[in-house]
Amino acid sequence: MAITRPEHILAIDQGTTGTRVVIFNEHARRVTSTSVPLSPIVPHTGWQEQNPLEIWGSTQTAIADALINSGIRASEIKAIGIASQRETTMIWNRKTGQPIYNAISWASTQSQGITSQLIADGYAPIIRERSGLPTSPYFSASKIRFILDHVPGAQADAEAGKLAFGTVDTWLTWQLSAGASHVTDSSNAARTMLFNIHTHDWDPDLLKIFNIPKALLPSIHNSSEVVAETSPLQFFGANIPIASLIGDQNASLVGQLGLERGNVKTTYGSGAFLMMNTGRQLVQSKHNLISTIAYEIDNQPTYALDGAVFSAGSALQWLHDRMDLINNQVDAWHAADASQDHDDIYVVPAFNGLGAPYWDPKARGAVLGLTLANDKNDLIKATLQSIAYSTSDILTTMAADANITPKTLMADGSVSRNPYLMQFQANIANIHIDRAMDEDATALGAAFLAGLAIGYWPDLAAVRHYVLTGRQFEPKWDAKKREHLLAGWHAAIKATQVFGQ
Ligand code: G3P
Repeated sequence: MAITRPEHILAIDQGTTGTRVVIFNEHARRVTSTSVPLSPIVPHTGWQEQNPLEIWGSTQTAIADALINSGIRASEIKAIGIASQRETTMIWNRKTGQPIYNAISWASTQSQGITSQLIADGYAPIIRERSGLPTSPYFSASKIRFILDHVPGAQADAEAGKLAFGTVDTWLTWQLSAGASHVTDSSNAARTMLFNIHTHDWDPDLLKIFNIPKALLPSIHNSSEVVAETSPLQFFGANIPIASLIGDQNASLVGQLGLERGNVKTTYGSGAFLMMNTGRQLVQSKHNLISTIAYEIDNQPTYALDGAVFSAGSALQWLHDRMDLINNQVDAWHAADASQDHDDIYVVPAFNGLGAPYWDPKARGAVLGLTLANDKNDLIKATLQSIAYSTSDILTTMAADANITPKTLMADGSVSRNPYLMQFQANIANIHIDRAMDEDATALGAAFLAGLAIGYWPDLAAVRHYVLTGRQFEPKWDAKKREHLLAGWHAAIKATQVFGQ
């Protein structure tokens, strides 16, 4: 009797610090996972770039390792889903496939001169109205402009249709399909600042404002849709459908089943990324949050309010790499526990400026409130607390914008493994926390959407019982304590902004 081998979904989670590949079975259980780290390129202070070919190479290696480790053949993969870092911008030559410049990372402020000029020229309101975004160097449009301005001949080549732009989803699909598909989905397109969030298409006026030719841009698709096929040359001899492209932060909302209006999640990774599902309603923020597309299925967008804290895990990385204060995550947890009752020092981790809801690219990091009684444990604890304070600020503004008071915050990401941070977060934001059981919420979200597109799973309701609940954290403080500490935090933020001018 012939033995039928099971079929699987392969998810790529391509992030700032590395590329992860996870293979799931039909019960959405991880069969195998592999990670390949990436090295950032920092040509100048505040600039952050990556090598696009290294991103692609790391993806190939992670896929190969996952297949070899699990013994699964490429032909046994039913579909591929790609969750990837958003906004990070690449331009390459359509003929040769060669990038014309490094990838400019979402975290880079090198195109700040371009956005400052647009703000001074009065373009911020129309940009916000059309794209849902504040005029910040965080998004792709000013990064594209930067590349076209800095590479000789690039503007003319872009106009002649010789070049292609992509965020990481687009780049990886281009590579996997051997240049056959130049595509993105609306969750990624919505982060470019060129996408009209009302018409769901590239906006001709935004293209004009940034002087970006449409010929440079990919076609836009659902987040759950077969958008390409792998070329056998690029995927170990197999033609496999690429059935989901989605922003990584959006994918973890799906992976945590944040599918109802009012569901909120934070992914604590290199930054802390919050997203509140606002359902079919596009909420225009009055408090400087981002109005965006969480995901799109069957041409039905689910909208979200979104807020990014630029430094979370990267602040802990700084404690490790530059300050030599911790060896790993566990050290940070123990140091916070060992710190005496010193909650009155504040670290503002504005290493790349401040994200939502402040949007101040000029702000710089600071430590405030030190006395001779403080020691290194206090500094480590204050750095952890800064992640929770920043998250709490965004949660408050989200609740006000959407007129919804969320009762639960769903948490995931590597930094959420720190129990001190999770308890402090519950206390300061006065919110119940459900921490994901599965550390691969992002990959799971991409896998769900890919599986849905090819009928591997009938609908998202069908995968509900595959997602297990992890550890819970309950808030323990009264309003007086919270307000006292938050007042100190807000004073620290103000001081940082003054310092950065
Ligand atoms: O918006 C930027 C975000 O998508 C980056 O995610 O996972 O690379 O930290 P990550």
